[in-house]
Amino acid sequence: MCGITGYIGFQEAAPILLGALKKLEYRGYDSAGVAVLGRGQLKVSKAKGDLSVLEERLGREMPEGTLGIGHTRWATHGEPSDVNSHPHVAGRIAVVHNGIIENYRRLKEWLEARNVVFLSDTDTEVIVHLINYHYTNVSGDGGLFGAVREALLQLEGSYALAVVSADFPDRIIAVRKDSPLIVGLGKGEYFLASDVSALLAHTREVCYLEEQEITVLYRDHADFFTGEGERVIRTPVHVDWDTEAAEKGGFEHFMLKEIHEQPRAFTDTLRPRLKRSGTGDYAIDFEEISFDEDETWTTAPRIVITACGTAWHAAMVGKYALEHFTRIPVEVDVASEYRYRNVVFNPKDIFIVVSQSGETADTLAAMRFARKEGARILAITNVVGSTLAREADLVLHTWAGPEIAVASTKAFTSQLICLYLLALKLGRARSRISGNDYRRYLASLEAIPAQAEELLARKEAIQRFASRHFNKSKVFFMGRQFDYAVSLESALKLKEINYTHSEAFAAGELKHGPIALMDRDTLAVTIATQTRLFDKTASNIQEVRSRGASSLVITWDGEHSFDTITDEVFRIPKTEDTFSPLLSVIPAQLFAYYCSVLRGNNPDKPRNLAKSVTVE
Ligand code: AGP
Repeated sequence: MCGITGYIGFQEAAPILLGALKKLEYRGYDSAGVAVLGRGQLKVSKAKGDLSVLEERLGREMPEGTLGIGHTRWATHGEPSDVNSHPHVAGRIAVVHNGIIENYRRLKEWLEARNVVFLSDTDTEVIVHLINYHYTNVSGDGGLFGAVREALLQLEGSYALAVVSADFPDRIIAVRKDSPLIVGLGKGEYFLASDVSALLAHTREVCYLEEQEITVLYRDHADFFTGEGERVIRTPVHVDWDTEAAEKGGFEHFMLKEIHEQPRAFTDTLRPRLKRSGTGDYAIDFEEISFDEDETWTTAPRIVITACGTAWHAAMVGKYALEHFTRIPVEVDVASEYRYRNVVFNPKDIFIVVSQSGETADTLAAMRFARKEGARILAITNVVGSTLAREADLVLHTWAGPEIAVASTKAFTSQLICLYLLALKLGRARSRISGNDYRRYLASLEAIPAQAEELLARKEAIQRFASRHFNKSKVFFMGRQFDYAVSLESALKLKEINYTHSEAFAAGELKHGPIALMDRDTLAVTIATQTRLFDKTASNIQEVRSRGASSLVITWDGEHSFDTITDEVFRIPKTEDTFSPLLSVIPAQLFAYYCSVLRGNNPDKPRNLAKSVTVE
């Protein structure tokens, strides 16, 4: 997720672009850049680091001109660096981009065969070269607009683009597909941004671009076209949000916004890797990992996963999934324990490290220890260019976008997607999954984003439940196997932002001690999605209820096994039992969020916690 902006009008563009980038910085902050067109020349300034680095650079030499585009980056392809920052330039054309071009490798080869030289490692650079190629090589009657349209025909993936050219100092061309882009209307000026928050200082009249819509912004008017090139008339809408609400996309807190971004994060993490052929056959394509060329994947005797906090809970789910689908033994340990334990190490093991930030001190130390022992490291991380991503041998990125709230939500579920894909790919490579089952599992994964949307639409039920229980002094979560891992994550969420004494138990462990804690002031939440264990779990629910605890069960749509033995049931859309954590954790996230707000806490900034723990 990056932020893009544009300005064309009568004022100096650079300060307006920087002001907008400040509002968009939450979308990405590893580098920033602007291109300003003045006196027939395109001046491009870009810098690695947050916006202040660019501001300082520009402060010395602010480019003059009344037309420009800007970008704040959250790296996907190519680590954060000056050269990988946007805008990217080819000839007299500059482009900023938000999204991912999935076929960029093929396009790069196509362009290189036509003597185009690339400077960066980004997917975006192919876009500007394609436009420039069509502009200079194909009959020029379509001009810049025609060249942009030609280039779009070759792009696969998601994009919001803004394009300027020194040959056309009177216009900005912009287009969107699967990434947001909004035009702001002023008097004698137009604005462009990925998020309405960046426009509110200048105008409240906006047009939200439709899918594949192209706009050409001039100083005195704007033209809009469908993807097929048909001209369309757009009527602006009036926005009366306050600025802070707009940055959070209308949500009260970043945490709630990020919970709601999970369907999108699922799609973004799945889509580049899940390929469906014309005949309906599925394949998992990790560009990052080649199972054919690297026999570690098919011969490793064991998998070791290490992580901290929420990422460790993802690793627990990963263990259940990997053992289920591959039959390889999996060991999971918290990184702070692993690094000091006298571990029995086998360099042939697959060593996986999971971390949202890629900067957690204990996690990095565990990785470096394993590296010294000779292990090959696979990192699962959300941050391109993080220390973990740079030091690992292989990286699977979660494409969750920047996570701002301290309590991790969308990063967790995106980590699960990567682990499930890995488990399925490895299971198939080791012939542990039949072709039919493989297809069925991947079709189920493909349905998860829509099911998560459906689930989020039921959030009022959780809100009502929270309003009855937010003051409980003890909340216990229990479940078996996958449900136990989700219980651990659910209890952590409630501790972090509600400061409630909450614990998680493997449901079968209850009678070995924790049941002594149950009384009338206890809420017991049971996660029950493992169908073959329902009878066992039902006994545990009865045990806690007979000690006076209130009971909520989270289970499948259409499942009635628990109706008569619990106070309440919350249902989630049905998927494979093995994939349940992708959905069952969402009500727990919402419950923690609503409890926190009802108690008057700020869920985005819980006391005593930091988003990324970079010290021991
Ligand atoms: C999650 O809600 C927490 N903020 C915390 O447990 C976090 O998951 C942990 O510190 C690990 O962070 P990482 O994923 O960035 O390594």
